[in-house]
Amino acid sequence: MIRGLLLGIILMLYCVCPSFQQDTTFVYNGFDQGDHRLHLDGSAIILPKKHVLQLTNATATQIGHAFFQEPVDFNSSEPVSFSTHFVCALLPVGETSGHGMAFFVSHSTDFKGAEPSRFFGLFNANGSASTRVLAVELDIAKAPDVGDISDNHVGIDVNSAKSVISANASYFSDKKGRKIDMKLLSGDPIQVWVDYEGTTLNVSLAPLRNKKPSQPLLSSTSINLTEIVQGRRMFVGFSGATGSTMTYQYILGWSFSKTMASLQKIDVSKLPKVPHPHNKIKSTSLVLDALLGLISLLVLGLLTGAAYMYRKNLYAEVREEWEKEYGPFRYSYKSLYKATKGFSRNEFLGRGGFGEVYKGTLELREVAVKKVSHDGEEGMKQFVAEIVCMRRLKHRSLVPLLGDCRRQHELLLVSEYMPNGSLDHYLFNHDRSTLPWWRRFAILNDIASALSYLHTEAEQVVIHRDIKAANVMLDAEFNGRLGDFVGTVGYMAPEITTMGPSTGTDVYAFGVFLLEVTCGRRPVEPGLSAAKRFLIKWVCDCWKRSSLIDAIDPRLAEFSSKEVERVLKVGLLCANLAPSARPSMEQVVQYLNGNLALPEFWPYSPGIGVIIPPPQLMLPSLSLSSYSSNNSMFMTHSIVYGSGR
Ligand SMILES: *[C@@H]1O[C@H](CO)[C@@H](O)[C@H](O)[C@H]1NC(C)=O
Ligand SMILES: *[C@@H]1O[C@H](CO)[C@@H](O)[C@H](O)[C@H]1NC(C)=O
Ligand SMILES: *[C@@H]1O[C@H](CO)[C@@H](O)[C@H](O)[C@H]1NC(C)=O
Ligand SMILES: *[C@@H]1O[C@H](CO)[C@@H](O)[C@H](O)[C@H]1NC(C)=O
Ligand SMILES: *[C@@H]1O[C@H](CO)[C@@H](O)[C@H](O)[C@H]1NC(C)=O
Ligand SMILES: *[C@@H]1O[C@H](CO)[C@@H](O)[C@H](O)[C@H]1NC(C)=O
Repeated sequence: MIRGLLLGIILMLYCVCPSFQQDTTFVYNGFDQGDHRLHLDGSAIILPKKHVLQLTNATATQIGHAFFQEPVDFNSSEPVSFSTHFVCALLPVGETSGHGMAFFVSHSTDFKGAEPSRFFGLFNANGSASTRVLAVELDIAKAPDVGDISDNHVGIDVNSAKSVISANASYFSDKKGRKIDMKLLSGDPIQVWVDYEGTTLNVSLAPLRNKKPSQPLLSSTSINLTEIVQGRRMFVGFSGATGSTMTYQYILGWSFSKTMASLQKIDVSKLPKVPHPHNKIKSTSLVLDALLGLISLLVLGLLTGAAYMYRKNLYAEVREEWEKEYGPFRYSYKSLYKATKGFSRNEFLGRGGFGEVYKGTLELREVAVKKVSHDGEEGMKQFVAEIVCMRRLKHRSLVPLLGDCRRQHELLLVSEYMPNGSLDHYLFNHDRSTLPWWRRFAILNDIASALSYLHTEAEQVVIHRDIKAANVMLDAEFNGRLGDFVGTVGYMAPEITTMGPSTGTDVYAFGVFLLEVTCGRRPVEPGLSAAKRFLIKWVCDCWKRSSLIDAIDPRLAEFSSKEVERVLKVGLLCANLAPSARPSMEQVVQYLNGNLALPEFWPYSPGIGVIIPPPQLMLPSLSLSSYSSNNSMFMTHSIVYGSGR
């Protein structure tokens, strides 16, 4: 009987929702929870009461899809075309930018194998995942491996995150008769129009109150949608993803139709407001703090002076006049104390450089908090000046410093949490699964470009002074990010003790780093036979025997011999004993990516493979200010980092 009832219900549904082809046309002026016409997966939700569709939240490496449940069908006599207009907003989580979002037309709703971050939850490194996709990406991260032109662009993607055509975000203003730049990650609502007819796909942008521009931003005339999605039935929707950095991706309104003529207007006055979760959290916690303060004043007015002093000491901070210019990167000690659950042992990540590192959760994001002890005013000023310098450095392969806090004898540095710890664990810790060659090669390229940035593109020449695997952190996607330390013997160029650090000493250390990553061993292994003890010499000896490739980490199975040999040779070139014979980091970047041929040199060339063994294995650490000069800044303190547990 129950069966009969079910059958009846199914039949009834069948009659209510006939599956014959219909003209898929809809308009959303805001979204309602429990809308059954939309299918959401992953991190995508409709925010309760806010009527906003949110694709991703402040969690790393998330994917969220939202698509119209019903497929768009075209019968055989109907031309395949569509027009859509939507309003979206991208809002940074914290201070670093994350990844963008995309409008898509897909063959199916199964996105298995799609990856987050620069792949938008639609593609992966091989192209498209389990389904075929046409997408319009609004991208706010520049990923060179997929050919991104900038960190603020719009692109048309056909079955791959590599856009077939892209342009920096801008719109054509009919009033002014010219293009006006737009910032995708402004948090302001952005209108997007996508029109497809014949084989032409047009994409236009504009700020909220503007009319649709008369000229599209992107126009591709070679798009065959039936071929791309392999059929005349397709799904339409939005996809967003986060990587190690996050963005809130919101859709406020959406109109779709098969033809431009039947596209319904979005009513801008009915659109929901862009949520600002950060302000919200801050203001509610402020209100909460104030309320708690009032209650504790009223109820706990009997607190003794001693208890008061205890509390005061617990959260006491030092702020001084000269610090003010360093601006808003200050965190309160209290917030860091809470973020790390009172610097709990459970949150302890490790010890490095000058202090202890703790994991914490601050404003919904994971951070690493490093406690550094200090004494002396001068050292402190120097230190803060360096933090400011580091704060200005922006490169995707540097571990970003988010802020700091200063107390009586203590400095706290807050940086992004690097979930995969430091590279040395994967190279030297034989219990751990190792990294394949392609990943190592990508990391080497990451670090080379970061170092080239420090040497040539930063406001001041910045000398890192301590390049080594232990200072290379791996983010959630195993991208290499340079952190920092004070010099370690074995990576230090011989002249450093007499002439001080320079860009040349960094190049030397980078050369040694290239060798250690390729060979999977430390530069000096006292336990090995004399022939193998010093990495540089050993690699050079392999080359002398015409078997350079023998130097490779024996755990590596698949690799390109050409690439490995090139890397080893670049390593030897950088580690030339004579500083003047070393290449610049800009050249190194080009040698590595094959854009520049290596100079002619042999294992017997002067300075190649020559080492001056250090007199002892550990030198005392170098003092902070002894290498200051007028035009360069040394990163003498390590940027805080997280490490895998
Ligand atoms: C983000 O969404 C995911 C999936 O719905 C959820 O597990 C996670 O708790 C959310 N994170 C935040 C910070 O809201
Ligand atoms: C195809 O669809 C169009 C528009 O919906 C309709 O006018 C036409 O009759 C359909 N043709 C066939 C063969 O079903
Ligand atoms: C890419 O393709 C290769 C070979 O077919 C496969 O081994 C690998 O898992 C694929 N990668 C992804 C991310 O799908
Ligand atoms: C896009 O913007 C970036 C950064 O602002 C700039 O370097 C680049 O030249 C621009 N590209 C085009 C095609 O305008
Ligand atoms: C695309 O833009 C071009 C140039 O403005 C225009 O001629 C064409 O009609 C547009 N096509 C579509 C489908 O919107
Ligand atoms: C698009 O591709 C399909 C399938 O390959 C083909 O039949 C059709 O003629 C193409 N359409 C155009 C306009 O080129």
